Amino acid sequence: MEEDRTKKLLRDVDAYVEELFAPPDEALEAALRDSREAGLPEINVSPSEGRLLQLLVEIVDARSVLEIGTLGGYSGIHLARGIRQPGFLTTLELNERHAEVARKNIERAGIEEEAFEIMVGDAKESLATLVREETSPFDLVFIDADKESYPEYLEWALKLTKSGSLILADNAIRGGSVLDPNDASARATREFNERIACDERLSAIVLPLIRERVDGIAIVKVL
Ligand code: SAH
Ligand code: DHB
Ligand code: MG
Repeated sequence: MEEDRTKKLLRDVDAYVEELFAPPDEALEAALRDSREAGLPEINVSPSEGRLLQLLVEIVDARSVLEIGTLGGYSGIHLARGIRQPGFLTTLELNERHAEVARKNIERAGIEEEAFEIMVGDAKESLATLVREETSPFDLVFIDADKESYPEYLEWALKLTKSGSLILADNAIRGGSVLDPNDASARATREFNERIACDERLSAIVLPLIRERVDGIAIVKVL
């Protein structure tokens, strides 16, 4: 069938890109292995999306990065690797066990203890704390926690960034479920995408990505 051929081609293309740009990496592989062994869900970004995250951090020459949704630290390692030193990664995680696995994974990847912090708790509370403490604006924010809260995370991200900052969001396409206006599970993602598309303070795009299913990343520049 034509559709199966297209699917295979997309997978082959992703494998080609991955082989060229995301070669085997001990710390990243160990992070995935330990996350799996600890029973964490296997919902980290793909290797090539990880490379894209690092590249975007490098493009904006970020020194301060905020991640919402740490899991086992796989995306966090990519983000941290892109940060210009001396720099800092702040990453927010609800689940204490995920945070513990992530802390070990990130440290093993050679990120100094002084260069990152995992804030454990509901991201909304951590975000409120960061605003209350008048944290300096982040150069880049990566949103990847519970999907229902994306519109709210966008509002917090706008409070915690400045002109020139980037806001990224994973899972912007969600297997195409954003295309179906009746799919309640994708409602917040659609709302997020519509907001970034229409807000005149922002310049944005959603870039489709090949994963197990088609997904995407939202890339937003704060004007
Ligand atoms: N960015 C990770 C994947 C994150 S998966 C990577 O690519 O490697 C989503 C994570 O968000 C999970 O670990 C989940 O526990 C966390 N999460 C879900 N709801 C949250 C909330 N309200 N506050 C903070 N973290 C949350
Ligand atoms: C899934 C994938 C993700 O990247 C995520 O952040 C949450 C869930 C998933 O495939 O279910
Ligand atoms: Mg994700």
